[in-house]
Amino acid sequence: MFAHRGASYDLPEHTLAAYLRALAEGADGLECDVRLTRDGHLVCVHDRRLDRTSNGRGLVSARTLAELEMLDFGSWHPGCAPADGDEPPDESHTRLLTLERLLDAVLDAGRPVRLLVETKHPSRYGADVERRLVRMLRRYGLAEPRPDDPVQVTVMSFSPLAVRRIRELAPTLPTVLLLEVLPRWLRLGRLPFGTRIAGPGIGLVRARPQLLPALRAAGNEVYVWTVNEPEDLDLVLTAGVDGIITDRPAQTLARLGR
Ligand code: G3P
Ligand code: CA
Repeated sequence: MFAHRGASYDLPEHTLAAYLRALAEGADGLECDVRLTRDGHLVCVHDRRLDRTSNGRGLVSARTLAELEMLDFGSWHPGCAPADGDEPPDESHTRLLTLERLLDAVLDAGRPVRLLVETKHPSRYGADVERRLVRMLRRYGLAEPRPDDPVQVTVMSFSPLAVRRIRELAPTLPTVLLLEVLPRWLRLGRLPFGTRIAGPGIGLVRARPQLLPALRAAGNEVYVWTVNEPEDLDLVLTAGVDGIITDRPAQTLARLGR
């Protein structure tokens, strides 16, 4: 079970506080999105624009890391509002999260953690997103996973080209091809570029009840996002699934009886 953008129902998505909460709640793994800043840093932000999740405006890709570090990425979220008389939330709730800081936190967790890193496209920096990601994972010793490594990274994208780049740059790193709809070219038996994990959205799973069994029968693993509602959890558990990606790790674990 993977916490989508951290424990992002309860706390502002992609903040260190949201990820630490998910780990404390017992999530097996974490999911994050990455984008490149103007000066080439990988930062954990979902949207192209800053407007929804920060007090900034405009494109993430047009700002330097130093500029993004000045923004507040937490106060928009109800989980960040201090109760009467309480101290305001600390910077782990409001500061931009770099991929580097997230990797440090995961390596410091002192227990096995899976990390799903999604590269966001289209990006004005194109292939540089994957190049810089693999370079960083190499620096952390995470680009060539060994079975007993406590931290295991998997790279995901909706972009087949991004998945192909990861396969070329780091052939032993697992990859997930994310699917919002079923592209006509996709053959369920064999995902492209040696990818063995499909990542359909829950809407697609609901619309195509045969999708999960077909993908799995062909030897693929399937990770479904974003499974927040009890009936959706029941649906994917009944169909059979290898990974559940949720905004609500504590509730999901409780329902799984863990
Ligand atoms: O985990 C995959 C999921 O995160 C893909 O959709 O829009 O939440 O990045 P999105
Ligand atoms: Ca994502």
